[in-house]
Amino acid sequence: MSQGWIEVCEVGEIDEEDVIRFDHGAVSLAVYRSDKDKYYATDGFCTHERVHLSDGLVMGSVIECPKHNGRFDYTTGAAKKTPACEALKTYPVQIEAGKVYVQID
Ligand code: FES
Repeated sequence: MSQGWIEVCEVGEIDEEDVIRFDHGAVSLAVYRSDKDKYYATDGFCTHERVHLSDGLVMGSVIECPKHNGRFDYTTGAAKKTPACEALKTYPVQIEAGKVYVQID
């Protein structure tokens, strides 16, 4: 894997349609596995308040925040339901040799 890619976990460590927390230095991410077996990563904290989205609920391509039920499309970062209005930052994800990698800039 080329420079800038950070290993998150083995592919099987995230269930389908679920999310895990991944901390790396000062950055905290939410890493998702979709119901279509694709992997995505966003900033871990909700843009509404500082609540970690890894405690939220994954439904299709949406993550629902555990605090006020704001929603985001985790494949694009777009805010989908108030009180979440500001988009999440997304990060590139790659799978190689059975492992999930994210690119953190
Ligand atoms: S903290 Fe996420 S919607 Fe309020």
